[in-house]
Amino acid sequence: MDTVLKINGLTKRYGKITALDNLDLEVKRGNVFGILGPNGSGKTTTLGILLEVINQTSGEFEWFGAPSNQNTRKRIGAILEHPIFYPYLTGVQNLRIVCDIKEVPYSRVEECIKQVGLDERKDSKFKTYSLGMKQRLSIASALLCDPEVMILDEPTNGLDPQGIAEIRDLIIEIANSGKTIIIASHLLDEVQKVCTHFCVLQRGKLIHTGLVEDVGKGDMLVEVKADTEDLQTVLEASGMSSNIKRELDKYTMTMVNGYSAAEINKYLFEKGITAKHLVVKTKSLEKQFLEILAEQEGGKS
Ligand SMILES: Nc1ncnc2c1ncn2[C@@H]1O[C@H](COP(=O)(O)OP(=O)(O)O)[C@@H](O)[C@H]1O
Ligand SMILES: [Mg+2]
Repeated sequence: MDTVLKINGLTKRYGKITALDNLDLEVKRGNVFGILGPNGSGKTTTLGILLEVINQTSGEFEWFGAPSNQNTRKRIGAILEHPIFYPYLTGVQNLRIVCDIKEVPYSRVEECIKQVGLDERKDSKFKTYSLGMKQRLSIASALLCDPEVMILDEPTNGLDPQGIAEIRDLIIEIANSGKTIIIASHLLDEVQKVCTHFCVLQRGKLIHTGLVEDVGKGDMLVEVKADTEDLQTVLEASGMSSNIKRELDKYTMTMVNGYSAAEINKYLFEKGITAKHLVVKTKSLEKQFLEILAEQEGGKS
């Protein structure tokens, strides 16, 4: 699989604040890659560096196997912040201005407006657009030069539930059209609904990368206590758990093949063992991430 983006040891400091700390990352062609993290974790900083609007303190990155240059920049479409459109001009007129700047033929305007579902309102003034429509116009604007990669920073921020659902569907559609997408979000739910791959940033540090489909999985760890000498042997024989370890007066184990704590309890009971204590300990990745995402940047809300 082609590597679209490779990041090596990227670091950004603002005085004493390390906004991004030695980030390594790889995005392959066709990935819908989520950068997930709470506010202040370094997502926008990362995207800003990748788009060369922020200078890194150290580290490097390559787009399409080469250092960023005029040619690579043309292959990337981005929405960093709410772009500035002219309020008294229509959607079409605004996009034509973008065409002039990007040297793209006007014929792209209608196509892109259709693609984002703004057809019916294309001749309305920008100032009459809902927030969701404004966001769709900026996505259309990023699509004008038919980029291979789309970068979206918190694309559903501020939208109502219907607007959120529409933008997410649109992102999935764009991904299905074969583009690689990199999307920053503080919402696990969003990453789970839209992305194929993701990483998690916490205070500028990469703490996880993986497949979105693995998020719900995670090992379930169970603790058991019982007054019997042969608990370990019985647990081993059950075939429901692995990695059984003794810790002081209790045993910990990893449940296998989707067996539940209730099933192991029933099994022990059938073997004449009454568990005094049976507790599920570890959280799935999902739970861990939700805790991280609930964190706020240095007391700010
Ligand atoms: N221009 C700046 N000057 C000083 N600190 C900044 C600046 N931009 C961002 N930061 C800090 O860098 C950290 C990461 O910010 P940011 O990348 O915007 O996070 P996110 O997009 O994940 O919310 C935060 O602590 C933020 O306060
Ligand atoms: Mg941000």
